[in-house]
This record gives sequence, structure tokens and C-alpha cells, in this order.
Amino acid sequence: MSKKCALILAAGEGRRMKTSKPKVLAEVLFKPMIDWVTDAVKEGGVDEICVVTGHCYEELEAHLGGKYKTVVQQELLGTGHAVMQAKEFIKANTPGNILIINGDAPLIDAKTISTAFEYHESHKNAVTIISAKIDNPFGYGRVVRNKDKCLKKIVEENDATNAEKMINEVNSGAYWFNCSVLLEALEGIVEMHDKKQQAEYYLTDAVEVILEKNLNAVAYEAGNPDAVLGANDRAQLQLLNEIARKKVMREHLLNGVSIPCADGVMISPNVKIGNETEILPGTIIKGDTVIGENCVIGPNSFIENSVVGNGVTLNNTQCYSSTVKDNTSIGPFARVRPDCVIGEGVKAGNFVEFKNANIGDRTSVSHLTYIGDADFGSDINVGCGCATVNYNGKEKNRTKVDDHAFIGCSTYLVAPVSVGKNSYTAAGSVITEDVPDNALAIARSRQTIKKDWISKKKPYKWQK
Ligand code: UD1
Ligand code: CA
Repeated sequence: MSKKCALILAAGEGRRMKTSKPKVLAEVLFKPMIDWVTDAVKEGGVDEICVVTGHCYEELEAHLGGKYKTVVQQELLGTGHAVMQAKEFIKANTPGNILIINGDAPLIDAKTISTAFEYHESHKNAVTIISAKIDNPFGYGRVVRNKDKCLKKIVEENDATNAEKMINEVNSGAYWFNCSVLLEALEGIVEMHDKKQQAEYYLTDAVEVILEKNLNAVAYEAGNPDAVLGANDRAQLQLLNEIARKKVMREHLLNGVSIPCADGVMISPNVKIGNETEILPGTIIKGDTVIGENCVIGPNSFIENSVVGNGVTLNNTQCYSSTVKDNTSIGPFARVRPDCVIGEGVKAGNFVEFKNANIGDRTSVSHLTYIGDADFGSDINVGCGCATVNYNGKEKNRTKVDDHAFIGCSTYLVAPVSVGKNSYTAAGSVITEDVPDNALAIARSRQTIKKDWISKKKPYKWQK
């Protein structure tokens, strides 16, 4: 099979999106549209990608991180003009075929790209346009066919006659071109632009240019009509989010994940969830999160870039860039900030916050506690209202608590400090010195009782 390359058009300003960022960085399920497109293109078997950037190109190029070739379109003069900026890239891939694809149509899938290519190559087409019939074709270029159903042209919404506007087969903005035909067609696009006195250079005019040369220009209908949908404004972006959200949830449901009520549930495309795990309403799971089997996640939990074991409960919990091991229960109303490793069988209750902390197996932190920059061992009991005092105004220091320790209620552990194995801290202690193993540390003033103290005072009216 011949080498395949792709040119992604991503220079557009996104005026209709009303954004100051490059439009293709708008997100669908928390993943920028451009990343959906590059992923699908690579999975569709393309060897080399070039991206046309333009509006806020520095921001887009920073996002792409040097992974692909880029060319800058200085003036945004339309999709045809965008392709002209990449002539060198197209020449370098001649002879061969090139996929030209919009960066603002994130639901395109690898299968549509690869099956369209097989069709394109086996029929030796000059261009194969990926099209689909959709319910609401407003705003898209319509695929106009002649009486014998062959492709005649693509007409944009603004140029379409009323009869053409009735056509519901639309151009996806993704096409397989023979590279040498495309290079020649670019000249034809300039002529068309001048002749029709259009404001922009339309890539879609390549169809008429190619047909005039008696070459094969064909519209190939995608099996998956959602694949062609693009987002020019935020209403369309929400529609794409909804389609992608339902699709991702359906895959998890069919894999044995329970989502009894999908209200407010959003799961990013790269998330992995094990069998018989239940996701409850209001839960957002983002990034490269992996969740094991038999967990209950939610209601109202937010999990990002984390690894969660089997049998874990995360109830009304936020968890970022951390690991939570098997059979641990966290929440309600708890927060696991980045760089934590929470061990197996840990219990963390309401209003507990962890940050950059290691918590050993079976340790219990039930209520109202902050543990930051700390290494806690296993089988520790932390009472209510404790805190690691990790910041002295200049630097962060670590706290170490060894296995089987018992941290009394309202203990403050002023770091750097350690508590030894089996040791206790008395409730209300402010621990500023290391506690050895098997000890009790009391760091508060002794209680004093002043007998009949009240009789010496002038009584208040409610005292008898
Ligand atoms: C385009 C197609 C239309 C198709 C639709 C599918 C043309 C003329 N029209 O319309 O037939 O149905 O996509 O979604 O091609 N871009 C550049 N440089 C530019 C202009 C655009 O790189 O100067 C990029 C945009 O960033 C975007 C893509 O090309 O990713 C499409 O541009 P857009 O203006 O959104 O075209 P549509 O009006 O959607
Ligand atoms: Ca568009």
C-alpha cells in the first residue's frame, strides 16, 4: 500500500465560537477538537501529518508540542488558501494520496478514514469526498449530484439555491486527494475564485475543477453520519459533546459498567473503567484515569488522571493525579490533591484533604483533617480535626507517622516532625518534636479546676 499523509486545516479564527483561542482547541469531553482529529487520522493509518495553523498559531503550535509538521497561514482566506500554504508538504508526498481534513470536526473516526481510503484507492479516484446524510444540513456544504447520481459540485450554504438547500447530504470537510491532481487543482481554485468573485478560496471548488478535467471526483457516504459533524459555534459544540458523551457511556455500559442514571455524568474518551463498577449522577471522570472493578464512583465525584483500584468508593470526592488502592473508601466531601498514594482498605471520611501524601493500608482518617506533604504508615488511626502543619511561610516540610500510631483528636503535627511506631498523641496536642516508638506524647497545658470560682463573681441574671 502507498504511503499516506494528512493535512489538517486548523487556522480558522472561530468567530462564530466567540473565543480568543484557536477554535480547534475548543473541547469535546474535555479533549480539544484537534486532538480528536489527530488521533483518528493516526488510527486511520496515516503516516505523516501536517497542520495548517493561523489564528493564534503560537498557542496552537505550543499545544501540538512539535509532534507534527506545521505551516502558518498568515491571512485567513479560506480552506482552499489554507491548502495552498502546504504545497511543499503535498509535493513531498507526490506520488501518493493525501487526506485533507477539517480540524473542527472531532467525531470523524478511524474507520471512516480508512474505508474511504480503500474506496478512493481501489477506484483510482482523483478525489473522494467523505459525505453523510444528516437531519439538519444547515450551514454545511451540500453535495449536489446530477441525474445519474454522480457528483456534480459542492455548494456552500450562502451560495445554495433554495432547491440545493433542501439537499441533506453534506460535505464532511474530509477528502482523499491524489497529490498531483490536488496540486493542479489549486490553480483551478484560484481561477474559480477570480471568476466567481468569491471572498474566499474554497477547497470545495476543487470538485468542479477536477470534473472539468474528466477525472474521477466521487462523494463517499460515511457509514457513521455523526462522523461529519463540525462545530462552528458553542451550540454545535454542545451537540457534539452530547453525542460523544452518550457514545462513550454506551461503550462502558456494554462493557459491564453500571450507570443507572446518566444525569451529569461525563467520561472522557481515554478513561478505562472495570466491570461492575457503578457510576452515579453528577460524576465527571477525566484524562487518563483508570478505575478498577466493583467500585462505586459518585454521586458528584470528580476524578482526573488517577488510578483507582478495585472495590473503591469515592463518594462526593475530588481526586486529582493520584493513586487510590483496592477497597478504600473516601468521602463524602473529601479531596485528594495531586501526588497522593492512598493504600488499600483506607477509610477517609467527610471533610478530609490529602495532598502529596502517602497513606498506608487500613489507615483511618475519618473526619475534618488535612494531611499534606506526609508519609503515614499502615493501621494508623487519625482522630477528628487533625492537621499536618506543613508550611512555615517559607517552605514545605514533611511529616512522618509510623505504623499503628494513634493520632488523637485535634493534634497538630508541626513539620518536619515524626511520630514513631505504636505511639499515641494526646488530643489537642501540638507536636513539635519527634515522638519515639511506643510512646505517648502530650503537648498541651494541664487542666486546672478552680473550685467554686463562680461564687466569687457577681452572678449573671440567669445564674441561680
Ligand atoms: C467547510 C466546508 C463545507 C463543509 C464544512 C464541514 C469549505 C469552503 N466549506 O465549511 O463544505 O460542509 O466545512 O464542517 O471548505 N480553515 C483554515 N483556514 C481558513 C479557513 C478555514 O485553516 O482560511 C480551517 C478552519 O480552522 C476549520 C476548517 O478549515 O478547521 C473549516 O473551516 P470553516 O470556516 O469552519 O468551514 P465551514 O464553514 O465549516
Ligand atoms: Ca467548520
